[in-house]
Amino acid sequence: MSEPDRAQLQALEDIAVEVARSAARLIVDERPAGLGVARTKASATDIVTVMDQAAQDHLLARLGALAPDDAVLGEERGGRGGTSGLTWVVDPIDGTVNYLYELPAYAVSVAVVDGDPAVPGAWRPLAGAVVNPVSGECFRASRGGGAFRSVAGGPQRRLTLRAAPAHLGEALVATGFGYAASTRGEQAALLVDLLPRVRDLRRLGSAALDLCRLAAGEVDAYYERGLNAWDLAAGWLVATEAGAVVGGPGGRDEAPTSELLWACGPDLAACFGPLITGLARRHHGS
Ligand code: IPD
Ligand code: CA
Repeated sequence: MSEPDRAQLQALEDIAVEVARSAARLIVDERPAGLGVARTKASATDIVTVMDQAAQDHLLARLGALAPDDAVLGEERGGRGGTSGLTWVVDPIDGTVNYLYELPAYAVSVAVVDGDPAVPGAWRPLAGAVVNPVSGECFRASRGGGAFRSVAGGPQRRLTLRAAPAHLGEALVATGFGYAASTRGEQAALLVDLLPRVRDLRRLGSAALDLCRLAAGEVDAYYERGLNAWDLAAGWLVATEAGAVVGGPGGRDEAPTSELLWACGPDLAACFGPLITGLARRHHGS
């Protein structure tokens, strides 16, 4: 597919918002009493609830109706191929552990990408939306069109990063941890080196929302190892469109991958980028 024009990008963004909002309503309205863990994935802490699967099935059905030629790649079981060259990359509940515990920091994340989302660095988000059904926040963006937040259907406000702190030592940094114990050990070792150099750290529990928090100026930087395309696709675009530099393990000119995503404002990028990629190489061997 050739590069979509602004009207096409806006139409894709509108679809992302519509389906993310509808799945976000579903996970709140149809949450069963006494919700538990339906199954686990890579480790005992990597959980799936019946609502993760139900929300993904819902997204597949809605996207089948609104974008029948496009492929869908989701975090849970299922997905489908397409003919258009576009893929919808969906996380039906990002922050599943928060959802299980009813901590109000989870979201439905929906993005449409060009390129192959199964190949690291070979794809880019075109449009996306992240919806937190508890706060009522809807974050949305499309390539070149800016990033916006609305709350509970209120007016859309354009997102911009907060002014960069003068020093890395004044930066509030968000991060997250994987589910495998071995990865967590390495992530903890990296934290020992990072924490004394920054203002403080936040672990909020949803990568999609972490990137939107950066876009909204609520943290100064974010990094994480081990993310999948569905965790980061929509948030990557929201953060970029709000003015963030989003880089990968090789630096700011490289797309984020499961090895490393880091993001911050352009002024902080000159010190945070080299620091975090260097620490990742030291502790994760990447
Ligand atoms: C997880 C969240 C978490 C991040 C993990 C992700 P899930 O996604 O985004 O913040 O630290 O790496 O796997 O499992 O809740 O969809
Ligand atoms: Ca996720």
